[in-house]
Amino acid sequence: MAVIPVALAGRDYDVVIEEGLLERLTQAAAPFLKGYGPQRPVPFVADTNTHRLYSRQVAKALGTEGLEADWFVVEPGEDAKTWGMLERLCDWLLALGVTRKDHVFALGGGVVGDLVGFACSITKRGVGFVQLPTTLLAQVDSSVGGKTAINTRAGKNLIGAFHQPALVLIDPLVLTTLPDREMRAGFAEVLKYGLLGDAAFFAWLEANGPAVLAREPAALEHAIATSIAMKAQIVAADERETQDLRALLNLGHTFGHALEAETGFSDRLLHGEAVALGMVLAAKYSARRGEISAEDAARAETAIAAAGLPARISDLGLTCDGAALVDHMRHDKKAEGTTLPFLLLRALGEAYVARDVDLADIAAFLDGELAG
Ligand code: GLY
Repeated sequence: MAVIPVALAGRDYDVVIEEGLLERLTQAAAPFLKGYGPQRPVPFVADTNTHRLYSRQVAKALGTEGLEADWFVVEPGEDAKTWGMLERLCDWLLALGVTRKDHVFALGGGVVGDLVGFACSITKRGVGFVQLPTTLLAQVDSSVGGKTAINTRAGKNLIGAFHQPALVLIDPLVLTTLPDREMRAGFAEVLKYGLLGDAAFFAWLEANGPAVLAREPAALEHAIATSIAMKAQIVAADERETQDLRALLNLGHTFGHALEAETGFSDRLLHGEAVALGMVLAAKYSARRGEISAEDAARAETAIAAAGLPARISDLGLTCDGAALVDHMRHDKKAEGTTLPFLLLRALGEAYVARDVDLADIAAFLDGELAG
């Protein structure tokens, strides 16, 4: 078991990692279930998959204390993060009579967590929520740190709020039902922590990646706990991304976002897969600037390919050129006027924010990569 505190003045919370937490929900989340009772069900939000897989287990756990869940269930996928769904969820919470002392439970991946977090941030100007992340990506990244959002016509995650959860319960056992492709996509975010700030962890992942992907309990818990410990430290120091610290968590995301946009934010390239490829591109571009060696860039590429993640942009079969990908980047919410901060590497295990990157040079670099 690992308990990792996220130290935010007045809004501290714990991230607890332990197999079987879902079964022991009433003990693990006891302080946040106060106020619910036989006449007052606990609000749970899930997608149809997590509802089908875990609602019985939740009902059994709550039943031990005479509690029941009331469910709001969305379709899986980003389409749930809309204004319309946000309105329906807020109306549902209001109809249930949630108060500012209550906590809403989010059981799902990043989509459910983002939607619930944002709904809770605006309902009655702030209701508490508990994250029960069910994908590796949500466990190591989106469930911790308080970024919540929905998508709009203008782009992904452009409307949202910082609203920290009151508790994050990570039960690695739920990953046994996660499809392998999604497991690999989440593993990309784990590799990210090694590449951005911990060379020893990166080396550990090079050796132990297969065990993590095979869900071997000790390896999996170590990978999740090490990732969360780094994220907790970064969030505590730079909650709102106003310094160049939390931005480090975006390693691989600017290149990745352009690739996701070019592939229509579809199953053709999952977010974690785009981040994986984005990290290879960031490493190669850092080597092009002479900041890391070509051997180190190749090492990053090898680790990503070894995890079964896309590592070569030329394999995607894109028909666009580098300029088109740069055009997508200009719409990134991190764009600052006509420039864009890029997350690059000074070493494997040391990322930094570069603000002197020439977008024409990025386009030329991407043309080379697209040609293979
Ligand atoms: N996913 C990046 C962050 O939480 O800042």
